[in-house]
Amino acid sequence: MDQTPLELEISKAARALAGGDLVGLPTETVYGLGADATNAGAVAKIFAAKGRPHFNPLISHVATLEAAESLGVFSPLARKLAEAFWPGPLSLVLPRQPDCVVCDLAGAGLDTIAVRVPAHPLMQQVLLAFGKPVAAPSANMSGRPSPTTAAHVREEFGDRLALVLDGGPSRVGLESAVVAVSGNQATLLRLGGLSRQALEAVAGPLLSPDAHAKAAPASPGMVLRHYAPRAPVRLNAVSANPGEVLIGFGPGYDAADFNLSPAGNLAEAAAQLFAMLRAADALNPKAIGVAPVPVTGLGEAIADRLARAAERSC
Ligand code: TXA
Ligand code: MG
Repeated sequence: MDQTPLELEISKAARALAGGDLVGLPTETVYGLGADATNAGAVAKIFAAKGRPHFNPLISHVATLEAAESLGVFSPLARKLAEAFWPGPLSLVLPRQPDCVVCDLAGAGLDTIAVRVPAHPLMQQVLLAFGKPVAAPSANMSGRPSPTTAAHVREEFGDRLALVLDGGPSRVGLESAVVAVSGNQATLLRLGGLSRQALEAVAGPLLSPDAHAKAAPASPGMVLRHYAPRAPVRLNAVSANPGEVLIGFGPGYDAADFNLSPAGNLAEAAAQLFAMLRAADALNPKAIGVAPVPVTGLGEAIADRLARAAERSC
């Protein structure tokens, strides 16, 4: 039977991965810059394209928990988290299986591996068609806001990609939460598209990276300045200063240029955050003011990303 246009795109993406090329891939969190995780040459292209330091390891994406179990060692607690949240916005950092097929470069030479089963149906189909783990960081240049549309990915990388698979705007809009699990201890390395409360309802209290530093080093990617537009970002802005573009949150921001969620909904704000930072930046303002967002539920991860976006480079 003939393939539909979408099926053709999916097989093209799987073929490009098999050929060692980079592919822009939709996930429910943000778009990824994917390569064959078992092919060091292909993975090296990710680091080169992003300008990413080699000490910062990549997440390996697979279609099923069973496939993830061939890469990392799941304790009962790790399995409980995977069963509760996969497919979905959770990456687990686990001890590497001795026969893990992911190349050392993707894991930055660490003896742990980050794995995720993403929920986006197109990404699922690519993973099933390809049949091997896909290493994929967010498809932005290092330090920039993550992409939540196929157009953002093309803006960042243009012709350097064999293909960008368009799966529509990312539903979650924040990267996955990264949790390291070693035995019965879980450490929250990166806040993300799952709230701390949702994770703790399954895992119990999560350790913070500092409390656990010896057993599980903090996520090398958690540098302070990140997710940053070109214009400076001013936090807790309630009105625009001269020359500033204002991003509001909730009711009462009728004069704002953008609003993360006029209804004050945190999931909607998360989904809009990076796209609005990019759109505000495209107006070439003197600065971008962002209204306060409550630091509860997903608001904690939103506040984390905004604080990093507001950090000035030194
Ligand atoms: O939602 C997401 O997680 C997206 C989509 C594409 O899946 N990916 C993503 O990847 O955000 P990236 O590379 O931008 O962020 C991965 C984070 C980094 O902070 C990295 O340091 C951390 O995960 N990480 C990866 N492997 C690790 C490991 N073995 N130990 C500790 N942290 C690790
Ligand atoms: Mg990233």
